[in-house]
Order: sequence, then structure tokens, then C-alpha cells
Amino acid sequence: MVRSALSIGVLSATVLLGGVALTSSASAEPGAAAAAPSKAVRYPADSLRALGDRIGLRIGTAVNMDELGSNTDYTKITAEQFSSVTPENVMKWQLVEPTRGTYDWAPADRLVAFAKTNKQLIRGHTLVWHSQLPTWLSSDGYTTTLSNDELKALLKKHVQDQVKHFKGDIWQWDVVNEAFDDDGKPRQTVWYKAWGGLGYIADAFRWAHEADPKALLFYNDYNLEFTGPKSNAVYDFVKTLKAQRVPIDGVGFQGHLDTQYGFPDLQNNLQRFADLGLKVAETEVDVRTFTQAAPNVNTPTDPLAPYAQESYWSRALKACLAVRECISFTPWGFGDTYSWIPGWFDNPQEGAALLYDADLKPKSQYYVIQQDLALAAGAPRRNGPGAGH
Ligand code: G3I
Repeated sequence: MVRSALSIGVLSATVLLGGVALTSSASAEPGAAAAAPSKAVRYPADSLRALGDRIGLRIGTAVNMDELGSNTDYTKITAEQFSSVTPENVMKWQLVEPTRGTYDWAPADRLVAFAKTNKQLIRGHTLVWHSQLPTWLSSDGYTTTLSNDELKALLKKHVQDQVKHFKGDIWQWDVVNEAFDDDGKPRQTVWYKAWGGLGYIADAFRWAHEADPKALLFYNDYNLEFTGPKSNAVYDFVKTLKAQRVPIDGVGFQGHLDTQYGFPDLQNNLQRFADLGLKVAETEVDVRTFTQAAPNVNTPTDPLAPYAQESYWSRALKACLAVRECISFTPWGFGDTYSWIPGWFDNPQEGAALLYDADLKPKSQYYVIQQDLALAAGAPRRNGPGAGH
């Protein structure tokens, strides 16, 4: 019964939309208004972005700038399937200021230009983090030879310079990333130590807001999907920020999921954060599973694993669809070859976490997400900046 209802729904969507290229028009919203091209951008009617457009939901991807432009298939998929892009690495401090006092904005500027050409919004990632800092600042994010006063001045300059550089081009900034440990305690980073507490977070949001008042400012973290010590601590913390009128607009749920763990109570957590008066977003979704040894690092060991992955992808998307304040759904890249996972979880090997395989062909997980979006026309339409097309 369910199966036939689904089939009919998809058939209708295909009949209505199939084969007809949709066009989108420029919209007056943060991150898109400044330099939106007048030429209409065309993308397939059954693409993820076109299906998301119908309810004002941005479907994003992290982008690997080593591939964008040089890899034809990669570039085409990025343009056609996604209405928002996140630089996977090139806006991180390590890459924008590898030598103290000398900025390199070139790769990030290239992504901004690509996004404008393709009428995509940009999630800026990330201004304040303990990881991927330049080595002149800290090699591990927890220790440094610099003084507290120097660190405070450096962070202020970094946030303001970077936000100003991209002023008008960024839809959502991940202002602060991963400031809490899994036990809910503040992570003891160089920033925490320099301020003697979490005061650096409010400062960073205020500096970012001054530099670009129209950008939506997010706190972003992993394992917020599950109710537990970390999610509770971040919930209490952002509630305090709101009470102190710190200019925070949203919370990003990274969504790095794994089939060896149960599916989280994600919708519940998205909703309770939204009920604080915040936007929410799924910002780095992937669904990893156990895989074979090299060179088959993206072949699941269990032939049934892809069914679990389909289920997790579908439920992650539906959790966002069900919460009106969830304004974007962003997988952390789209081709298994470029995923961070096989290089990270090597004991035991994990991978196969994305929607496209190593040949950049859509996997079953892609079609499940596409079908969910095709059937989502009745989901609550998103409001506010970014929702209009
Ligand atoms: O830039 C150097 C290059 O010069 C060098 O030759 C090469 C040798 O390994 O390394 C390059 O740096 C790598 C960098 O990505 C850029 O490609 C680092 O080794 C590598 O560790 C780094 O990994 C990134 C990781 O963040 C760092 O923590 C991943 O690509 C990126 O997907 C991942 O993304 C994070 C989010 O920002 C925050 N949330 C978690 C997520 C997954 O870890």
C-alpha cells in the first residue's frame, strides 16, 4: 500500500516536472542580492535543488576546491544538484592565513564566483575553531606559544577581516564550530583558555555581526542530533546567548551519522532548538558504514548496509522537512572518493558515506533523497532569507 502510494507520488512529480528545465530568478536576500547574475540558471527539474526549491529548502554540498573547475563531472553535479555550497576547507584559518599577516583568499573567492554564476547561496565555514589553525598560531588547537592578549587581538582581527572580505556574499556563517566536548563540557581550546571561559563565543558573534549585519550567524557542532549531555549543554548555552541578545541566528547540526549507531532523535532536537527562536540547519550530513580494506574503501562489507544508509539519509532529510525553521540540508560532499571518512576512521575502516559513488554515479541513497523531496511538496514552506527563488 505504502509502496504503491509512493510510486504514484513519484510518478506524478515526474510527469509534472520531468524533462522540463526549471529556471530560477535572482532574489533579494542576504548572500545572493549583491551580485546575482541577470542570466537565468537552468538545472534539471528532477535535481535535488529544483525539488528543494518548491518548499524553499536549500539543498547544499560541501565543495572540494581541488575538484571544482578541473573535474568536469564534479563541477556539473555541483552546479546542477545543489542550491547552496559550503567550502569544505578553503575558508578555514589554516588556508586563508597560512603565513601570519598574509591572506590567501583566492580559492574561496573562486567558490564565491562559482556560486554567484550558478545562483547558489553560501554557508561560510568556519571562523572560530580549534582545528585546522595555521601552525604559527597553534599546531593542535589546545596549546600555543602566543599570549592571551595576542590571541584575543588575533581572533578579533581574523573574524572581522574574513567577514568583511566576504561581506554580502555569505548566507550563513558558521561563526563558531565544535566548542563543546561530547560530555557537554566546554572544549579546552586555545580560545577557551585565552578568555578563561566561553566569552570568546559571544565576542565572535558580535564581531561577525558588526562586519556583515545581514549574514545569518550559526553555532555548528556534531552529536547535537542525539539528546544527551552535549546537545543539552549546547541547548542551554545558546539559550543564554539569546537571553544576552548575542546576535546568533541559528544552530547547525553537522549530522555525521554511522549505521553502527541507532538513528538519533534528530527531529526532536531540531525542534527544541528552533523553539528557542533560532533557525536550524543540517550542515554536514553523511552516513558511513563499515567497508572493505584498501583499495575498496567505499564498498560496504555487509551487502545489507546500503539499506540502512538509505533509511538514515531519508530520516535525516525528513527530520529537516518536518521542522519549518530548518532552512538547509547539506551533505558533506557528494562523491565517495572525496569524502573525509576513509582517511579518518581507518580502524576499523569506514566509508561509502555519500550519495554518489567513486565514479560520481548516483547511489540508491541519492534516489531515496530525490524521491523524498519529490514527495515533499506538502511539507511546511520555509520562510525568510534564502527561501525565495
Ligand atoms: O592542505 C594540506 C596539504 O597542503 C597537504 O599536502 C595535505 C597532506 O595530507 O594535507 C592538506 O590538508 C588536509 C586538509 O583537509 C585540506 O585538504 C588535511 O590533511 C586534512 O586533515 C583536512 O581534513 C579536513 C578535516 O575537516 C580537518 O579536520 C577534511 O577535508 C574536512 O572534510 C573536515 O571537515 C570537518 C568540518 O570542517 C567540521 N566538522 C567535521 C568535518 C569532518 O571532519
